Amino acid sequence: LLHDLKKGKMSKLFIIANRLPVTVEETAEGNFYRQSSGGLVSAISAYLRLEDSNQFTKKIWVGVSECAERVWASAESVTPPEYDFKPVFVPPKLYEHYYNGFSNSVLWPLFHYFPSFADYQPSYFEGYLKVNAKFASELERILDPKDTVWIHDYHLLPLAAMLRKKFPQLTIGFFLHIPFPSYELFRVIPREWQHELLSGMLGADVIGFHTEDYLQHFLTSVRKVIKARIDHRTISWDGRDIQIGDFPIGIDYNKFQGASSDHGVLTKRSEYLRSKLDKRLIFSVDRLDYSKGVFNRLKGYREFLVQNPHYKEKVVFALVIVPSRDTISKYAERKKLIDEYIGNFNSRYGNINWQPVIYQYGHLSFEELVGMYTACDLALITPLRDGMNLVAKEFVASRRDRQGVLVLSEMAGAANELTEALLINPNDRKEIAKMIKIGLEMTPDEQERRMTAMQKRLQEYNVVTWAKEFFTALARISSEQMKKEPL
Ligand code: G6P
Repeated sequence: LLHDLKKGKMSKLFIIANRLPVTVEETAEGNFYRQSSGGLVSAISAYLRLEDSNQFTKKIWVGVSECAERVWASAESVTPPEYDFKPVFVPPKLYEHYYNGFSNSVLWPLFHYFPSFADYQPSYFEGYLKVNAKFASELERILDPKDTVWIHDYHLLPLAAMLRKKFPQLTIGFFLHIPFPSYELFRVIPREWQHELLSGMLGADVIGFHTEDYLQHFLTSVRKVIKARIDHRTISWDGRDIQIGDFPIGIDYNKFQGASSDHGVLTKRSEYLRSKLDKRLIFSVDRLDYSKGVFNRLKGYREFLVQNPHYKEKVVFALVIVPSRDTISKYAERKKLIDEYIGNFNSRYGNINWQPVIYQYGHLSFEELVGMYTACDLALITPLRDGMNLVAKEFVASRRDRQGVLVLSEMAGAANELTEALLINPNDRKEIAKMIKIGLEMTPDEQERRMTAMQKRLQEYNVVTWAKEFFTALARISSEQMKKEPL
């Protein structure tokens, strides 16, 4: 009650993430908005569109604008009526150090268990702190201490503590969308940085992870580096209690279930079915990323064709890679290697009538995406590491016919929930080959049994349930903090 009185139920919700849900594309015909890609954007925008988020008087999404102020201003406003945007403008050089540098050339590779890809340049870390400080100062101008702030992902680890300094009573949540690595990996970061990152996160009231494993890794790092007092899932530090929880992110289940009967989706689906003729169709879609295990996938598929030559000309693998971070050398190199590998593969295994791999490097529209989800026989998702992997969940949710098989890497957070998928170790190409065969030959009854069980779970624990559980934890801890403070 005290908490409600103080908050006056007039709380605005600030979603803070590196990426805004839209980007502005400059073209000869004018400047247009395009929907951003990636799991974070699709999940949070789904939540903000739903009624449940109307408990807040206003919803504002704050993120870095990828374009200059002038370009942003020239694009027509497409702010969906449900929420507002606040772009943060960061000079290009600084953005380079913060985004390409520290976020994606230190934290991303390390947290996905690619330590040899990390490049510990001091200027990257300085840029990273500067951009976080810029977020903090922009927010200070528009925040009210009774608002709720929900910070997302690895780009903004120090932000909660920066805001806490200015607003000791602010309700702050933090959610990490990628894995938190074992302490043995975390400790390779320079010591001072380790401290800054962890104490930054501890500025929040609630810190969320996708899985219990990530949470435990985080607690170990806090114990070793910060030496804070930890009691089960509560960390006491700097005079405050911080709650830690695992909240596996969900999807807008009904949107994907419903989409399978949309006119646009049906049109795409029948187009794909027509072009595959009598062949079996395997599908995958990922952002360009070394963590997604595209080579293992292709090697597993090749192994399948070698072991089962009667499948030649009877199966095609549609592989879609969505462009991402391609100004970072490790990503640009990967693109080149994938292109070469597929060219080689098709020329060696294919012929004039048949190509084993159909490859697209580009974005898919929603209709194309669900068209593929519903037309394919098998979805092949094989990341080497993945915080969650929403593609797996979207595929399952789209299958209103309860047919189709999911082959999924056990290194994806989603494998904890999608236990009826055919789970594989992405480094075991023989196992991938074996599961492709089992999947393509699975009886319709067995497909239905597995799909039904997975759908039930995804329907129950969807994106709204996820956000609700997070906000419930946040409300509980912030009201406990309030009780300790005088009115
Ligand atoms: C992952 C990250 C997100 C990120 C997305 C797309 O899902 O957890 O924070 O937005 O990838 O990557 P990008 O670098 O294009 O934002």
